Amino acid sequence: MMIRFYLDGQLVEVDVKPTDTLLKVLVDKLGITSVHYGCGEGSCGACMVMVDGKLRYSCLTFAASVNDKKITTVAGLLSDHELSPLQKKFVENNAAQCGYCTPGMVLVAKALLDKNPSPSDEEIFDALAGNLCRCTGYVPIVKAVKSAARR
Ligand code: FES
Ligand code: FES
Repeated sequence: MMIRFYLDGQLVEVDVKPTDTLLKVLVDKLGITSVHYGCGEGSCGACMVMVDGKLRYSCLTFAASVNDKKITTVAGLLSDHELSPLQKKFVENNAAQCGYCTPGMVLVAKALLDKNPSPSDEEIFDALAGNLCRCTGYVPIVKAVKSAARR
């Protein structure tokens, strides 16, 4: 079946099977490199995207369900090829090592700060609880989110 959706502002059309996940379509069919396969079962957050502004695990989302919707990946936060202020805070705080978890972490942080511009430490920990990082020990990630928050 053909579906179409906006991917970071660009309209794309793609032929999918009813059982294809959004993750599979983004990575295997559209060549998107900022959405990652980690666990494939909603436990790690590496595949995180936004669908119509809401966080979604793309490994648990059927591609057919996003027909006519707006998908945002971390690349969609760039403006004129410039990192967003939040992305810059991740860089400044060395919040990425291998970077595998980083797109998901950034999208979760964005969703949190959009809803709550001055989160407490606990609220940041809670928001990031569904995203796993095997490298950083989380401290620089939380620092990055805190430094991007309004004080
Ligand atoms: S790959 Fe989707 S949550 Fe891990
Ligand atoms: S930076 Fe490597 S998994 Fe988080």
